[in-house]
Amino acid sequence: MSGRGLAGVVAGTTAVSKVDPETNSLLYRGYPVQELAARCSFEEVAWLLWRGELPAQEELAAFRARERAGRAPDPALLRVLDGLPAHAHPMDVVRTAVSVLGALDPAAGDGSPAAELAKAERLLAVLPAVLAHVQRHRRGLEPVPARDDLGYAANLLWTTLGEEPDEIAVRTLETSLVLYAEHSFNASTFTARVVTSTLSDLHSAVTAAVGALKGPLHGGANEAVWEVFQEIGPGEGAARRARAWLERALAEHRKVMGFGHRVYRSGDSRVPTMHEALRRLALARGREDLLDLYDALEEAMTAAKGIAPNLDYPAGPAYHLLGFDTDVFTPLFVAARVVGWSAHVVEQRADNALIRPLSDYDGPGERHLPPAG
Ligand code: COA
Repeated sequence: MSGRGLAGVVAGTTAVSKVDPETNSLLYRGYPVQELAARCSFEEVAWLLWRGELPAQEELAAFRARERAGRAPDPALLRVLDGLPAHAHPMDVVRTAVSVLGALDPAAGDGSPAAELAKAERLLAVLPAVLAHVQRHRRGLEPVPARDDLGYAANLLWTTLGEEPDEIAVRTLETSLVLYAEHSFNASTFTARVVTSTLSDLHSAVTAAVGALKGPLHGGANEAVWEVFQEIGPGEGAARRARAWLERALAEHRKVMGFGHRVYRSGDSRVPTMHEALRRLALARGREDLLDLYDALEEAMTAAKGIAPNLDYPAGPAYHLLGFDTDVFTPLFVAARVVGWSAHVVEQRADNALIRPLSDYDGPGERHLPPAG
């Protein structure tokens, strides 16, 4: 019998990324994620994850041109999104959008690696428009057309917030996108692989993966972190309030969102890079109070449980400072992780075996209906 929740079970092989809890490292196709976050654009990292090597200059230029040309959403997609209730959760909107895009995709029936990668590129290109629609539509704001003089992260900020982003905002978002892009067999990626293993298509796999990511034990944690920050309240006395809040939460056996990880046991390898990005952004925006609260809750959690933060802990407050609505944080995670999901879809298809485990049974023993009549 395996561990609960497949804990400790190796469920397959991948060349996309390596998470090493012993050395606290995360490698994308062999490169440490911290190096990629410091030196590469999100577009370069996407290419690397999809194709195994960093792009040559002309490959990158061609990819950037395709991505920029594919940013405008199909009017048929917008009609569906406009028809959803204004109070729909953004992750439900994103999940619906991916499904609709699958139905509209010109290569819907083609499962070849080239076609799947082209679908992944198209999906990536249009996701900022979906996020922008979510945040702007319910505020009654007009859509802001994409700008093809901006890179992926800058355009995402521009089209969602409607303001020219400054350098630090772009850098912060880009760092988070690179760090969120891939993480081996996490729950949503495994979901995508299970769907792919039935020989279903990329959009079906990604739609299912968005559903898996929505849960608060996975991607939804970045939103929950910001809610906790608001509950505690930054400013004078934050450290005391953080300790009291934590004591109460633990007494009520609540999980503290943004802490703990199934694989990393002594800290998430992505946190220092994102923490530094948050620190710079908060200082630039005059929000040292958030950093104090961040430190206070982390210290209290370490003292009480010895459990370290995961990537969602610095990402949540960073996304708030960038100007995103709280329930758009997990859709931002989608815009990044769609890269990893699609890399795994292509890898799964290339050497496919149906994923169909066994289960132990602990229901009633065999029994029979009463005699008929
Ligand atoms: N807050 C409080 N306690 C936590 C905790 C947290 N965030 N994470 C783990 N623990 C505790 C559990 O209560 C459990 O304690 P116990 O043995 O006394 O019952 C122990 O640590 C093991 O936790 P468990 O949930 O069984 O480990 P897991 O490997 O299944 O959990 C997570 C991994 C990520 C699901 C878990 O840490 C969690 O729920 N974190 C909060 C959600 C989150 O931030 N998710 C994003 C992940 S990137």
